[in-house]
Amino acid sequence: MRPFALEVFFSRWEFEATHHLTASDVESMSVHALLSLASPQERTAFEHTPLSYTQPWGDPHLCQAIAQTYDTLTQEHILCFAGAQEGIYTAMRTLLTKDDHAIVFVPNYQSAESLPLECCEVSGVALLEAQGWQPDMEALERAIRPNTKLISMNFPNNPTGAIISHENLAKLIALCRKHGIYLFSDEVYRLLELDERKRIPQIADVYEKGISLNVMSKAYGLPGLRIGWLASRDTHALAAFERYKHYLSICNSAPSEALALIALNHRTQILERNRALLAENIARLDTFFAQYPTLFAWNHPDGSCVAYPKYTGKGDVEALCQLLIQEYGVLLLPPSIYHSELLPTPNDHFRIGFGRKGIHAGLDMFGRCLEEKWLPLQG
Ligand SMILES: Cc1ncc(COP(=O)(O)O)c(C=O)c1O
Repeated sequence: MRPFALEVFFSRWEFEATHHLTASDVESMSVHALLSLASPQERTAFEHTPLSYTQPWGDPHLCQAIAQTYDTLTQEHILCFAGAQEGIYTAMRTLLTKDDHAIVFVPNYQSAESLPLECCEVSGVALLEAQGWQPDMEALERAIRPNTKLISMNFPNNPTGAIISHENLAKLIALCRKHGIYLFSDEVYRLLELDERKRIPQIADVYEKGISLNVMSKAYGLPGLRIGWLASRDTHALAAFERYKHYLSICNSAPSEALALIALNHRTQILERNRALLAENIARLDTFFAQYPTLFAWNHPDGSCVAYPKYTGKGDVEALCQLLIQEYGVLLLPPSIYHSELLPTPNDHFRIGFGRKGIHAGLDMFGRCLEEKWLPLQG
């Protein structure tokens, strides 16, 4: 299989960098902090969790709690996984065969593209920077073939932070419905919209062949639980995914399921805390980028906790990212990480994250690197 460039890069640097300035999750919490939100009954239930195998679909109480985060779904529409990644892998491997065709947007989170490419022919459709990274809807329509089985989308998008407009989403669903295409929607950054009017519905609520992917990792800031799920009204597809999962994780970790249930029961509080942190951090990024108007074009993302600023100075932003990690301990994702096999991707954008506490220290170091080493080269 193709190496997953982002994970290869993270495996090298993520735990070595002093300042992780490109995290894709919100600041996490300890088991202790999460349990401090729990009622005495919830805490007791957690402490008595048997460390046995659990149900392959996911603990029924957890599936019910997840279903309640949708407008129209019930427990039977939810299948749990070990994180979002296992859900993407399972859905692509199960739905796509070599005679099928899939469409994905570019730039993307690499598994959205690489996994379909392992299974069948894939077309890329651009997210257009000049249109606030909206999908090229005309190209999308042209890309559809008689054997197109699946379109994969991810909004708020990694890396651009863009959200498809309500109008384009309606067009996309109409196209899928007309051609009987599955619409796989990676919604892991949902609930992190900076402007809530841009929030789009969860696809499983509004399209009968829609498959929604979500996880405790991003908006809830609990990636260590490794609890994700696929939600769909297509129960036949879910049943096929469950069979595939028998060859992967089989079932979730029991303590993780118990903790995820507690987190979902107290999600209002957790999301409030997380959104407040994002608001604070985005203001820090505004201040930082305003100091270097000749080096960066900074635009707020629509949502998520990552942004994709453009480098506008002299020289190569890939080299700047290398300098930052090697000499200043500051981790950003350089443009090469978002290279696509399907379409050209920008070589002047990099990914920065704003979900973690303490980004000010990383930004101070970033600024120091610019002042000491980079601005003198600008002439
Ligand atoms: C868009 C997107 N989908 C899925 C994932 C995978 O999530 P998890 O780590 O919870 O499996 C990520 C992680 O960065 C992501 O950015």
